[in-house]
Amino acid sequence: MSSLEVIILAAGQGSRMKSALPKVLHPIGGKPMLAHVLSAARALAAKRIHVVVGHGAEQVKQALADEPVQWVLQAQQLGTGHAVAQAMPGVATDARVLVLYGDVPLVPVAALEALLAKAGQQALALLTAMPENPTGYGRIVRNHDGQVMAIVEHKDADEQQRQIREVNTGILTARASDLARWLPALKNHNQQQEYYLTDTIAMAVREHIPVVAAITERAMEVQGVNDRKQQAEQERAYQRQQAERLMQAGVTLMDPDRIDIRGTVTAGKDVIIDANVIFEGTVELGDSVHIGANCIIKDARLANGVTVHPNSMIEESELGEAVNVGPFARLRPGTRLAKGVRIGNFVETKNAVFAENSKANHLSYIGDASVGADSNIGAGTITCNYDGARKSKTVIGDGAFIGSNTALVAPVTVGNQATIGAGSTITKNVEDGQLAIGRGKQRNIDGWQRPQKPEQE
Ligand code: UD1
Ligand code: CA
Repeated sequence: MSSLEVIILAAGQGSRMKSALPKVLHPIGGKPMLAHVLSAARALAAKRIHVVVGHGAEQVKQALADEPVQWVLQAQQLGTGHAVAQAMPGVATDARVLVLYGDVPLVPVAALEALLAKAGQQALALLTAMPENPTGYGRIVRNHDGQVMAIVEHKDADEQQRQIREVNTGILTARASDLARWLPALKNHNQQQEYYLTDTIAMAVREHIPVVAAITERAMEVQGVNDRKQQAEQERAYQRQQAERLMQAGVTLMDPDRIDIRGTVTAGKDVIIDANVIFEGTVELGDSVHIGANCIIKDARLANGVTVHPNSMIEESELGEAVNVGPFARLRPGTRLAKGVRIGNFVETKNAVFAENSKANHLSYIGDASVGADSNIGAGTITCNYDGARKSKTVIGDGAFIGSNTALVAPVTVGNQATIGAGSTITKNVEDGQLAIGRGKQRNIDGWQRPQKPEQE
């Protein structure tokens, strides 16, 4: 068996995106389109992956600098045939080449495997599709026996050829030795004055090299992205796949059309996700996690039995078993909540570690803080962690009770079983078991006369 080398075409400008960003860097599911194609290529265990770049080459290379690929520069975009030719010097002469497009992000690995199997040792094999509307695509011309004879680009096709519904997806595989013969012989005598890779099909036919075509049932997944509308269509198709994957894994999605996964989500048993939830980065959900509507969860681990009520945001945080969060909670990076912790509405946490069963139920900011077990943080409590120059830490012990509307001016420590009176501004450490009150004394004045409004004339 000859080894496989993949050539990904990604040099085009993508002018219809009307964007400063090179087309192949536009995201689908939060990841550049080209990165999706690279994962597909990697799944095929190719010996080498060549990526042909041109427009925005430096930006593309930088964005995907960690990928083990051979970058090939196509300085001028003279056509798909010319693009493949630029990569050929780096391809082993006895290899089989698979051509993919950087702007066809959802190409299914199974379809590529089937195509390679169909090509066998000798043939040139094409992946074709039957879209509802074939306008703009190259058409597959077959003879009376159904043999593929050529591909005619839409712009070069006559009226009769434009009636053909079967189109070229652009994905093809051929022997490197055949391409090395055909590509230098391409002519650019066509409407676009480009060197078409698709002209190699007629060359193969002339040389009696077998040409086979595999028609994919799933035209949507091999559709290219040329403009924002097609990008949005591919995004929806991708999100639908992600939703189906989660449901197959046993997750209940209240509405599979209203979930967005821009990264990876793994989930345990009996997870329920309500509408309009967005996941980003790497998110791990344990068993029986319930996520309410309109939550955004990024790079987080939620252990078994966690409940997140609607409209909460969680980022770079770890939630232990049976933690209960929201509605309208905001957990910022460095939040670690142990088993049974409760974070209620309009509470913001950052760099905050809560031990088991502690609570901050309402309207608080807890930043750069550690809270012991079984402590209660009253409504309106603020850790004053920033003096305009430095951040300082607040340490609260076990079983502490922080009265409502307390300002804890860091650095400050509140001991175990300590109590803070409501409305206090705490600037000095509080020892274990002490009560601290730091607020203006109340004065009650007898016989107070309210100012009178002047009488109307
Ligand atoms: C191409 C095919 C057409 C097929 C369609 C499917 C040819 C001649 N035509 O047409 O049969 O139906 O794709 O979407 O192959 N590229 C380069 N360098 C170049 C030109 C293109 O890298 O010089 C890259 C583009 O970035 C893109 C891909 O090749 O990723 C396809 O190029 P594009 O110009 O979009 O080809 P189409 O005209 O759509
Ligand atoms: Ca295209």
